[in-house]
Amino acid sequence: MSAGVPWDAARAQEIISAHLGLEGPALPILHAVKKEFGYVPEAAVPLIADALNVSRAEMHGVVTFYHEFNREPHGRHVLKICRAEACQSLGAEKLARDFLAQLKIEWGQTTPDGALTVEPIYCLGLCAHSPSALYDDEPMGWVDAERLNEIAAEAQNK
Ligand code: FES
Repeated sequence: MSAGVPWDAARAQEIISAHLGLEGPALPILHAVKKEFGYVPEAAVPLIADALNVSRAEMHGVVTFYHEFNREPHGRHVLKICRAEACQSLGAEKLARDFLAQLKIEWGQTTPDGALTVEPIYCLGLCAHSPSALYDDEPMGWVDAERLNEIAAEAQNK
């Protein structure tokens, strides 16, 4: 996973300026900021809000609405576990809850060793293979506790 470069307000401002001419620039700016820094830093929100002439609260609302815009840097690996209906109906919530408890983290957090970030995702189009997950952009179906443990161990070792 790409960690991005360290936060730099001047660079963020350049990115924002480069997208201001677009129609509906908010999401392209957020994607570009994430691509550059690996996440959307809290400090970017007022810069984007000011540039788009919207309130900081409004911009904060946009950032937090989309799970794609992580507000903390990711770990070396990212596991996204599906929380949509088909996966829920086959036990994904309990599976995820137990896994998060085992790692002693919450949704969106990273293990203290920086190895693994666990995030929710809402339908991967793998409903027939529920519960589903995405590990470092590799889709996987029929995920169970054993597979999650393998992922955690693999993440620690790479
Ligand atoms: S609901 Fe999980 S992949 Fe569709």
